[in-house]
Amino acid sequence: MLAAMRLLVLGGTVFLGHEVAAQAVAAGHEVTCAARGVSGTVPEGARLVVADRDTPDGLSALSGESFDAVIDVARRPSHVRHALAQLGDRVGHWVYVSSGSAYADNSVPGRTPADTPLLPPATPEQDDAVGANYGPAKVACEQALSGAVEPERLFLCRVGLIVGPGDRFNRFDYWVSRLARGGETLAPGAPDEWAQWVDVRDLATWLLHIAEQRLAGVYDGIGAPMRRGDFFAAIAAALGTQLSLTWVDQDFLQEQGVNAWMGERSLPMWVPLPEYAGFMCRDVSGSLAAGLVTRPLADTVRDTWAWLPTAGDRSPASGIAPADETALLTAFHAAHP
Ligand SMILES: NC(=O)c1ccc[n+]([C@@H]2O[C@H](COP(=O)([O-])OP(=O)(O)OC[C@H]3O[C@@H](n4cnc5c(N)ncnc54)[C@H](OP(=O)(O)O)[C@@H]3O)[C@@H](O)[C@H]2O)c1
Repeated sequence: MLAAMRLLVLGGTVFLGHEVAAQAVAAGHEVTCAARGVSGTVPEGARLVVADRDTPDGLSALSGESFDAVIDVARRPSHVRHALAQLGDRVGHWVYVSSGSAYADNSVPGRTPADTPLLPPATPEQDDAVGANYGPAKVACEQALSGAVEPERLFLCRVGLIVGPGDRFNRFDYWVSRLARGGETLAPGAPDEWAQWVDVRDLATWLLHIAEQRLAGVYDGIGAPMRRGDFFAAIAAALGTQLSLTWVDQDFLQEQGVNAWMGERSLPMWVPLPEYAGFMCRDVSGSLAAGLVTRPLADTVRDTWAWLPTAGDRSPASGIAPADETALLTAFHAAHP
């Protein structure tokens, strides 16, 4: 039995941070979450310390307290710098949730953190972690931590697509909903392209394990890749629906103005080739060896499907509308008689 930790979650009011805090409470740890409390609430049993990290002294309510570990989901480099300045020597182990968007080159399948170059970090003037600055901001967050925390006290987790109940984006569950509806389905690209994801609950379990065990290093936080054809087949099998896919090539979709990955009129989890050939095909053998355990896709599909009626509207919504899909399929068949 592990000794209980004093754990600080910087975040904790939504999705991943909330799941980490909930699992930590269930494991018997003393959990403090620091957030504004505007995105949601913290799980029962966790303490919320109201903090606005936009201000340099935003974490002052924690002054005098020390923690065995912190798990931080920050996006803005200034938030990380403020936390380091205010908490630095009162935290034992730092776990930072970074992103695969930190990588500069996504073209090669089978890469690991050790052999993938990073984007240049955002400058201090570029503190907004949205759009094209999201990846550079994550790099700047990582660098602020690496510059201040000894390597043996720091774990950087470059996370890929997080899915499952509570997801605030519908990239994964577009496909769950679409394949549940059945009928001829527009499948983007080709069946031997890749899909890669991590269930939020598995990622949270691993982050907690890392904090408990004081693991250090740089790892990808994502499960093993699966061929897109197998991915769709597994979703349909989990839902008990008939699969009827029409694979539509990238050139056609791009000519028709369909967007990749996410957002308006997009086909989620589809990425342009060749530049993103490695984006959803990372070699995660190191992460699995370091304790990441991933559940079967069928479990994630069924739990996401059960949760969806309570999910509400997500913004920005990804996917294509049913009538649009039908029109695209009609045009595709006409062009490929
Ligand atoms: N979703 C994905 O597929 C994906 C992929 C790769 C990486 N990631 C990374 O995974 C992490 C996801 O974290 P998450 O699910 O917990 O959600 P999140 O959307 O990153 O949540 C941000 C958290 O920080 C808090 N926060 C925001 N602004 C704040 C401020 N000014 N002061 C204090 N607290 C503030 C929010 O709480 P309040 O608003 O209540 O203050 C919330 O709890 C992020 O680091 C993200 O970059 C996500």
